[in-house]
Amino acid sequence: MTKKRDFLDLDAIDAKTLCKIIDHARDLKKKNKKLLEGKTLAQIFEKPSTRTRVSFEVGMQQLGGNVVTLNSNDMQLGRGETIADTARVLSRFVDIIMLRAYSHNTLLELAEHSTVPVINGLTDHSHPCQIMADILTFEERLGNIKGKKIAWVGDWNNVLVSWIHAAEKFAFDLHIACPKELVQATSGKHLKFCESPAECVKDVDCVVTDTWTSMGDKNPDLRRNLLVNYQVDEKLMALAKKDAIFLHCLPAHRGEEVSAAVIDGKQSAVWDEAENRLHAQKAIMVWCLDN
Ligand code: CP
Ligand code: NVA
Repeated sequence: MTKKRDFLDLDAIDAKTLCKIIDHARDLKKKNKKLLEGKTLAQIFEKPSTRTRVSFEVGMQQLGGNVVTLNSNDMQLGRGETIADTARVLSRFVDIIMLRAYSHNTLLELAEHSTVPVINGLTDHSHPCQIMADILTFEERLGNIKGKKIAWVGDWNNVLVSWIHAAEKFAFDLHIACPKELVQATSGKHLKFCESPAECVKDVDCVVTDTWTSMGDKNPDLRRNLLVNYQVDEKLMALAKKDAIFLHCLPAHRGEEVSAAVIDGKQSAVWDEAENRLHAQKAIMVWCLDN
């Protein structure tokens, strides 16, 4: 038997495969196919979710499969049953598992002990499904992302980590403006660290941001103080290329990381971005189960 295909992080999957998944997502968006008839997805949530939960559920239904949605607190997991035992048991009932967890180690442990593919639906470390949808969205608007310039302005979080992985895999330049107190050690030949949001967005094709306080983050007041000059507003967007787009994984906080004028304005692609979670994840699930 070939090794099961987990979708845990973009840096663990080869670039050609990621591009093929994006191409397939584009095809499935044009014409749905019932490629997973009779398959069952279990999705487990340790944290709240709107987009991930609904897009995986609807996506699996459109592919002809079934879905079991579980809140970790309603499972024996919440009473101390181990991740390993949960993985072994779920593997006897379902064909694929998606997990949204606090600790990335929880995801890795689930994948290690599960005999069916596991998908990362966000952890404190990363959010790879989101960035697959973001790349699909970027390419719908502005063509192949290879060689393009993307600016990240704001907190150092799970969404940024997956953008950093994607920059290496899809060969685009990622400019990062983040307060030095929040920056985490990383390196990559496609990364550029910027002193200011203005330097970061100059002549880029796309500006991206996210909430200043992610689920599970402590000290929202401290973070707000550090990030107060990092709001993406019209003045900042005006420094990017004329046809640049704005992306945000949502949920958004107007007046904090982004102004209402930008997120609700002409350059914003956030509603397509949210819809594309559905198409990207359908292609991800098909890839996971196609071996
Ligand atoms: N962007 C995203 O993952 O949204 P949810 O938290 O609503 O799933
Ligand atoms: N960085 C955010 C993303 C939400 C989809 C969080 O982890 O809360």
